[in-house]
Amino acid sequence: MAPSILAADFGRLAEAIGEAEAGGADLIHVDVMDGHFVPNITMGPVVVAAARRATGLPLDVHLMIAQPERFVAAFAEAGADIVSVHAEVTPHLHRLLQQVREAGVRVGLALNPLTPLDVAEGALPYLDQLLLMTVNPGFGGQAFIPASLDRIRAARTLRDRLNPSCAIEVDGGIGQDTAGDACAAGAEVLVAGSAVFGEGGSVAGNIRALRTAAERGAG
Ligand code: DX5
Ligand code: ZN
Repeated sequence: MAPSILAADFGRLAEAIGEAEAGGADLIHVDVMDGHFVPNITMGPVVVAAARRATGLPLDVHLMIAQPERFVAAFAEAGADIVSVHAEVTPHLHRLLQQVREAGVRVGLALNPLTPLDVAEGALPYLDQLLLMTVNPGFGGQAFIPASLDRIRAARTLRDRLNPSCAIEVDGGIGQDTAGDACAAGAEVLVAGSAVFGEGGSVAGNIRALRTAAERGAG
C-alpha cells in the first residue's frame, strides 16, 4: 500500500505522512510533475527531502517530468528510495534506467495507459518496479480505466517470466471499488491518493479498508 501525498494537505505534510506510516503504509508515493510532460506542477527535491525527514518508510518517487536525466541525482540525494521514470519521455530508455541504477536507488519504469507493453518486456531485466498507470498521469481523483485490468494481467505474465523480483505497482483511481480487481489481476503495490487522504475518515481507517478490499481480490 503506497499512499500518494498528492492528495494530502501540504500545509501539514509531515503529519499526514506520519498518519500514513502509523496506519500501515508500506511506501510513501511522491508525485513529481513539471507542467511539461503532464499538465500540472507539483513538487521537487525539497519536498522529497521534507518527506525523508518525516518518515522511515521508503519513498517511492514517481517522476512525471520531461528530461528526468537532469534530476535523477537530485531526487536520490534528497532521499528517494525508488525512482520511477516514464518510458514516454526518452528515446534512450536503457541509458536512463542505467542512470537511475547508478544513482543508488531502486529502478522503476512507469507506463502510460496505452504505451505498448513491449517496452516493459525489454526493460524488465533492469527493473525493481513496473508502474502501470491506470489513469492518465497529471491529476489525482480520476476514474480507474477499466481496460487496465487486462494490461495488469499481461504485465504480470511478462514479469513472472522475465523478472520475478520486480514489483508490479498500479497508480490512479485505486479505491475500495477497484483495489480488489487490480490485485486479482496481478498488482502487488497499490498507489492511492484520494482514497487515503481525500476521503472522510481517518487515514489509518482508509488504508485498512483498502487493504481489506485488496486482500479480497487477491483471494
Ligand atoms: C496521477 C498520480 C497518482 C495520483 C493518484 O498522475 O501519478 O499517483 O496521486 O491519485 P488517485 O489515487 O486519487 O487516483
Ligand atoms: Zn503517481
